[in-house]
Formats: sequence, C-alpha cells, structure tokens
Amino acid sequence: MYILGISAYYHDSAAVLIKDGVIVCGIEEERFSRIKHDNGFPFQAVAFCLKEGGLDINDIHIISYYEKPLLKFERILETFIDTYPRGLKPFLKGMPEWLDYKIKVEHTIRTKLKYKGIVTFTPHHVSHASSAYYPSLFKESAILTIDGVGEYQTTGLWKGKDNMITPLKKIDFPHSMGLLYSTFTAFLGFKVNEDEYKLMGLAAYGKPVYVHKIKKIIDIKNDGSFQMDLKYFSFREGFQMWSPLFEKLFGKPRSPKDSVEQKHKDLASSIQTITEEIYFKILNYLYTLTKSENVCISGGVGLNALANGKIYTHTPFKNVYIFGAAGDSGAALGSALYTYYHPVIPAKARIQSKIPSINVLSFGSSYSNNYIEKTIKEYKLKYEKLTEAVLITKTAKLLSEGNIIGWFQGKAELGPRALGNHSILCKPSPRNMKTKMNIIKLREQFRPFAGSILQEKVHEYFEVPEKNHWSPFMVFCFPVKKEKRKDLAAIVHADNTCRIQTVNKENGRYYQLIKEFYRLTGIACILNTSFNLKGEPIVETPQQAIEDFLKTKMDYLVIENFFISK
Ligand SMILES: [Fe+2]
Repeated sequence: MYILGISAYYHDSAAVLIKDGVIVCGIEEERFSRIKHDNGFPFQAVAFCLKEGGLDINDIHIISYYEKPLLKFERILETFIDTYPRGLKPFLKGMPEWLDYKIKVEHTIRTKLKYKGIVTFTPHHVSHASSAYYPSLFKESAILTIDGVGEYQTTGLWKGKDNMITPLKKIDFPHSMGLLYSTFTAFLGFKVNEDEYKLMGLAAYGKPVYVHKIKKIIDIKNDGSFQMDLKYFSFREGFQMWSPLFEKLFGKPRSPKDSVEQKHKDLASSIQTITEEIYFKILNYLYTLTKSENVCISGGVGLNALANGKIYTHTPFKNVYIFGAAGDSGAALGSALYTYYHPVIPAKARIQSKIPSINVLSFGSSYSNNYIEKTIKEYKLKYEKLTEAVLITKTAKLLSEGNIIGWFQGKAELGPRALGNHSILCKPSPRNMKTKMNIIKLREQFRPFAGSILQEKVHEYFEVPEKNHWSPFMVFCFPVKKEKRKDLAAIVHADNTCRIQTVNKENGRYYQLIKEFYRLTGIACILNTSFNLKGEPIVETPQQAIEDFLKTKMDYLVIENFFISK
C-alpha cells in the first residue's frame, strides 16, 4: 500500500512516499528548484519519490494532501468580509493564484500528475499531529500542534492512543502563536517564515523588558489559551503584519539594512519569553487533560529549540518527541500517515509491517560513486578515493587541526536541518572557529552554531534530562555544563545553551567520524552547520556542493568516498 503525501502553496512544499506505514523517501521541493522555502506544487519532489520508489504515478494507492484547500479559501473569504474595505488590495492580489491553482489541488493532481487513484485531504493540524505522533511510536501520548495557521486552526491539543488521534481543544485564526512570532520577526527587519531562527538567536543578547507591553496586545489565560488584540495587527487585511498602533507601542520598526541595536535584542528576548510562557502553560494544561508522560509536538512553533529545551524542567512530560521536520514539509508525511491509519483504508488492507521509529531523517536523494567521480573530473579537481576507514581518520584529523570541511554523504535530510549528511563541519573550539565558519556562511555574528555530539557522551557536556539523552533532530537547546564551555567555545551561545544533535550508530559514518574526532581531541562534539551559502537551500547535488566549495574558503570537501582538496 503506497501513499504519497504532498504539501504545497504555503511554504516548504514537499512530497513524501510511504509504503505500508513506513517512509520510503521524502524531500522538499526547494532542494530541486533551488528556491528557498519553495511553495510551488512539488512536481520535482513527486518525481523523485516515484523514481526512488520505482513506481509509476498510478502505482500509488492514495495521494493525500496536507490540508483542505476549500476550507482555507473559506477562511480567506471570511477574513476579507470581516476586514472590508481595508483588506481589498491584498485580497485582489491574492485571488488570481487562489482561483487559478490553489483551490484546484485535485485538478492539478489529475491533470498534471495524470493520477487516476484516490485523493484525500487531511486537515492541516491533523497532518501536523500525525507527523509527530506516528513516528514517535508512543502507544499513547499527548500531542500539541502549533503554527502560523492551517485552514482555521493555529493551535491544537490532542490525545493519541492506539494509532487514533482525538482532538481535545483548539485555537483558531487570527489568534496564532506563529503569526505573533512572525509579526515580531518582520518588525525586527527579518524575513517571515524564514528568519524566525534569527530572532531566537538574538533573544539571548537581550532582556525581556517589553513583556508587559506585549501583554497589552495578547491576553494569556492560565490554560495557555490566548487572544490577540487585533487592533495591533494588520496581517488579516494588509501587506504588513503590524498596525500603526503596534508602532505606537513599540516604536519604529527595524529596516533590514539597519544595524541590530540593544532595543531589537530586548524585543527578541521579550517575544521569546512570551512564547515560552504560552508554550509551557499550554503544555501543562495538556498534561492535566491527558495525564500522559509522553508528548509529541509539531508545527512551525515546535521548531523553537530554545523553548523546547525547557520542556523537561517546566512541564511534567518525561518523553518529548518533536519530529525534525516539524514544519509544513513534515506535514506531507503526517498527511500520508494519517491516511494510512484512517478508515479510508479498510483495516484488513493495512499490512502491519513492523514500523520503525524515525531516528534519522535520511530520506532524500543520493548519488553513485561513478556519477560523483565523473562530476569531480569535470571540475578538474584534485581528489582521492578513500576507503571508509581512511576517509574517517583523515577527515577527523584535519577537523582536529582546525580545517573547515564540506561533508556530503548519504541521503539528503528531510526538514530544515542538516544532520551530518549535507553539512559543513569544523571543531567546536576555540571561539574563533565560529568567525571562520561565519566567513563561509556569511551569517550574522549573533547567530549561534549547533553541535553534533556522541549520544553516549551528551550528559557529560550538556544539562540534559537523563544519561545518554536522545535528541537526534537538532530541535532542542540545552545548557552547556560549565566545565565544558571552553571545549565548545564556538558553539556555546550567549545564554550558555547550545542546539544539539545527538549522534549514535544509526548515523553510520557520521557517528564514526565524531568518534574518531573524540579519540584525537578528547572532545565528543563537532560544529555542524547546513551545507549551503547565504540565501540558498541546502545543497542537493555533488555539483552544488563543489560550486559552494570553490566559492568559499572551505578547506576540504568530502563527497561520499571522495576526498577533494583545492
Ligand atoms: Fe503548518
């Protein structure tokens, strides 16, 4: 039983193929189109899934779409009527694409993909809930979904039990944690749906002195439910997310060209504080509803690693599963999984294969050695083909000597994080390694880098909830232990936390590399950043990896078993 999940037309379009409830492959459209956060229909991602699965489109039993377009369209019409005449301009601007293709998803699937089978539409937050609950393998669990907006819903509290997901409570548009965070992202001169991470990074440098002002624009109840005072926002009816009253309260917005001042840092810190207050209130309330020690979280706000790291200390939950692709690309998987467990498939047709929990996100493309060698030769580069053992020893040694190495191996990762397949690596100290890496990545200096750590050593370096704590998707920040801050000087953030990826045997060659680095240096962690340059999606092909290598001061490049020098 093959199901193809698709997400499109908002941001991070993706296609994911599952067979009998198990992921075969999945990838974001941006990796092929090279448009960051591409929101077009994921034709290339679908073609990849078919090729990878060895299927023709009509071998797919069901195509499931990650939301209900007509319901979403209804919300847009309602919003237009509510805000008329103020919202006329954005409404008229948005309508052609809605009428042209956004509400005609099934038509596109039939005509462009030439698909004749069953098409289903999963409500957006059900897709999110499923993307976290089913891969977690928890028999029963509390589930929180929280993002900008789906059709109407922006927040969902759920209970998962025996593969059934039951809604408990929800919050609808326009009251939205995601849109509130994005309003501040835009107000501080960053890009919405893209730069929210920058705000999170900036928060560590500020003080939450604007919390009382933010509480004027959002009313937070004890159970975490909230209502935004709409006179401070104009995202329903304007091209800008905030209203003149918002500016009266918080002053002038920052233009992207302006320098980042203390005030901006304080605003970032304040909205992060509010986010965490709401997050923990909701989670504590969800615990009282479900009394489960397990919680699954999905939706864009679930990628707030700073808040996630505090869940263990601020709520009674003991096991927290946040799927690495918690945003809308992962919702394509969620939609497929929900459809698999949903009555549209008769129970007897559901082959209960042993479903593995998802610990690595290597579901994208990979390239053969022949193809890679041919490509390297085309660029006339100096290279060696090494055995795995030699490759690991050599790379670890060069990392320990302070080199910056492009590391392209295995299948591309699904979701926003490079997890040691398409990554750029260097040692995590001294402090100037951060500057060196920033010269390549051209990132703002205030943004922290993440670390990949041997799972069996994680408790020696970080304040994690338990020994050998498992956190494979880089969606949690944990405090760095005082005695290890020098060893991790390039990845310790201003608040002494670090976003981490625990790495174990399932990570194969990447695990072996960090082990060897540990043997050489006594440090069980390396700096890991995504293999892309400013404004680019993560590299997808060996050619793109080579181009970035040649454009920058990267010292060496590893592509599978090929070791490339300049
Ligand atoms: Fe979403």
